[in-house]
Amino acid sequence: MEKLLVKGRKRLVGEVMISGAKNAAVAVLPAAIMAGGKSVLENLPNIEDVSCICNTIEKLGGKCIHKDKHTIEIDCSGGIDYCATFEEVQRIRASYYFLGALLARYKKAEVAMPGGCNFGKRPIDLHLKGFRALGATVEEECGFVRAYADKLVGAPIYMDQVSVGATINIMLAATMAEGVTTIENAAKEPHVVDTANYLNMMGANIKGAGTDVIRIIGVEKLNGAQYAIIPDQIEAGTYMIAAAITGGDVLVKNIIPKHMDSLTAKLVEMNVKMEEGDDSIRVMANKPLRGVNVKTMSYPGFPTDLQPQMAALLSICNGTSVITENVWENRYQYIEELCKLGAKVDINGRIATIEGIPHYQGAKVEATDLRAGAAMILAALAAEGTTQIDGVRYIDRGYEDVEMKLSALGADIQRVLDKG
Ligand code: EPZ
Repeated sequence: MEKLLVKGRKRLVGEVMISGAKNAAVAVLPAAIMAGGKSVLENLPNIEDVSCICNTIEKLGGKCIHKDKHTIEIDCSGGIDYCATFEEVQRIRASYYFLGALLARYKKAEVAMPGGCNFGKRPIDLHLKGFRALGATVEEECGFVRAYADKLVGAPIYMDQVSVGATINIMLAATMAEGVTTIENAAKEPHVVDTANYLNMMGANIKGAGTDVIRIIGVEKLNGAQYAIIPDQIEAGTYMIAAAITGGDVLVKNIIPKHMDSLTAKLVEMNVKMEEGDDSIRVMANKPLRGVNVKTMSYPGFPTDLQPQMAALLSICNGTSVITENVWENRYQYIEELCKLGAKVDINGRIATIEGIPHYQGAKVEATDLRAGAAMILAALAAEGTTQIDGVRYIDRGYEDVEMKLSALGADIQRVLDKG
């Protein structure tokens, strides 16, 4: 078992390079299995979730050839199995994209129910409703989902709720359905657009990704393509908050500044100085920060995946801040851990009221999920003394070289093996 040891109160200064987006990579990789030819995917983050998806592709019979740390060639041209019911699949949430991809290519798919971070109910009913609307029979049985159809036929689909996963999954299946599909009330997240862009490069006909309505004209086959994944909006946001929480001065590079607008606006409101470049943002925090209110929403709203990191920052700002979590029903498990470091937070349903404290005090805490782990690192960076963070495996799922990137900025952070 590995753990992180962080000695806090070091001001972060310098430049950090952001990796490719986890949530785009975990959709684009399964999309690659739909092609009759090879794809070369670049700017993939070197993280556990990507390894897990690649292992799944290989177990299905496809080839994943690592060209370098961030580039993988996917070759499923020889055909692959349509059953992904093994253990890797249950480990991560995004394995649900194999349902859409296999259904598109083979008109049949059997996939284990997805796992992933645990923050309350995480249904996939909207995905399955979409597949049914395209003409598939969908059965849920003993921990896996089976979907099959003689043929998929395009249809108008209205999403009852904005869902990133359902939007992408239905888009995957509809790409190779006969005729036209429209997805209304679609998610607009950058990774929805990235997946659509890659599919279009493979020969798909998808318009409107990034708006509320996506229109897909089905095609018979897809070719492989060379494609570079977009930068990770959430990793970028985490380092921006790291700069703010340590009173630092950090240039966050290789990002799409537009994707950061909701966070940038909040940091400015809190008194952080920002300088936006073409593909970078410099974050300078040399004044006392004030608390603000934050409501998580689907894109372009404030991302739920930055909510725990923001709570870590707001806890040491002046005054009272209120966070409203509108996306997930139970994404405050980490608050108990934050309170071990001294945070003062009151939870009432989806609302967290945070009373600013002068500073954190180091303690032993647990990363209860991926973004919770990021929040623990951020709080630890600002804490007096040493913080021990357990549950590092969660952090490794989504953050590439986290301790190396932070050390290069001047943080005192070490990964050690816990023999006890
Ligand atoms: C994606 O999850 C991300 N994961 C999550 O990031 C992120 O928190 C979430 O989108 C919201 O932005 C990946 O992209 C792999 P949703 P997803 O479907 O697609 C409800 C991280 O830390 N819903 O947009 O699974 C659901 O309960 C992870 O990187 C249904 O009711 O989320 C939730 O309340 C964690 N039925 C809301 O919609 C469904 O069929 C949004 O979920 C699907 C979703």
